[in-house]
Amino acid sequence: MTAELIKGSEIRNVILEELKADVQKLKAKHGIVPGLVTILVGENPASISYVTLKIKTAHELGFHEIQDSQPVDISESALLALIDKYNKDPKIHGILVQLPLPKHIGEKKVITAIDPDKDVDGFHPVNVGRLMIGGDEVLYPPCTPAGIQELLIRSGTATSGAEVVVVGRSNIVGKPIAVMMAQKAKGADSTVTIVHTRTKNLEFHCKRADILIVAAGVPNLVKPEWIKPGATVIDVGVNRVGVHPETKKPILKGDVDFDRAKEIAGKITPVPGGVGPMTIAMLMKNTVKSAWLHAEGK
Ligand code: GUN
Repeated sequence: MTAELIKGSEIRNVILEELKADVQKLKAKHGIVPGLVTILVGENPASISYVTLKIKTAHELGFHEIQDSQPVDISESALLALIDKYNKDPKIHGILVQLPLPKHIGEKKVITAIDPDKDVDGFHPVNVGRLMIGGDEVLYPPCTPAGIQELLIRSGTATSGAEVVVVGRSNIVGKPIAVMMAQKAKGADSTVTIVHTRTKNLEFHCKRADILIVAAGVPNLVKPEWIKPGATVIDVGVNRVGVHPETKKPILKGDVDFDRAKEIAGKITPVPGGVGPMTIAMLMKNTVKSAWLHAEGK
């Protein structure tokens, strides 16, 4: 049997259409458009490609969008001053500093410098705390986990009481998606296990999963034999494993051996075209939400 593909690219398009209508409503009611700034430090090729896509999508939705590229040797204080400028700019509702940052810049300092009300990445400790509390407290869910949850909901995957195993414990994906899936909420209500590099028997845990979420950043880490037949597999990995000889574009592979896994899983996300496009859609959603909240003084 071949698994059903969960096509993030198609689901993303539906969400962007919904957001376009919401942007029109915001404009008609308050005469404002959502404003998003992406700050990119240096020239990491993957970061350039992510930021370019984010800004392109913001443009297509009719946002006021700024791509602010800074040299790799910008000082930490200059970067903090730049963030402060955007914190005070009423036309900007969302501020995103693309990670990773060069080593001489403190990531924690930068993240905490962003006004939590404009932190559309959901990385500020205040927003991480709100996520942990759940329910109405959540202001901006982090984009990749929010995209994963949306994929589960829109693909009709049953989550209530499901065994969810998360491979990876990063602040950006593993930890927040684990918290989100355990909340008493739609697209959640699951029994969650987090596994990581020090886990003794990765295979044992993966095999128990009704929903396997893999965000380890290691190509082909999850073997097809580790997948429970019929399980839903969400592959968050985007690993550059080479360059296409003709197009010169990077060859991307997930953390799961897709070709063999799709013969065992019930549903699976492809790489590319699965989780990736959803991350951007959720960033846009958070920015539109921020614009509404700012417009209505909330
Ligand atoms: N680097 C990798 N993923 C992300 C993300 O979601 N947001 C930011 N700011 N940087 C990233």
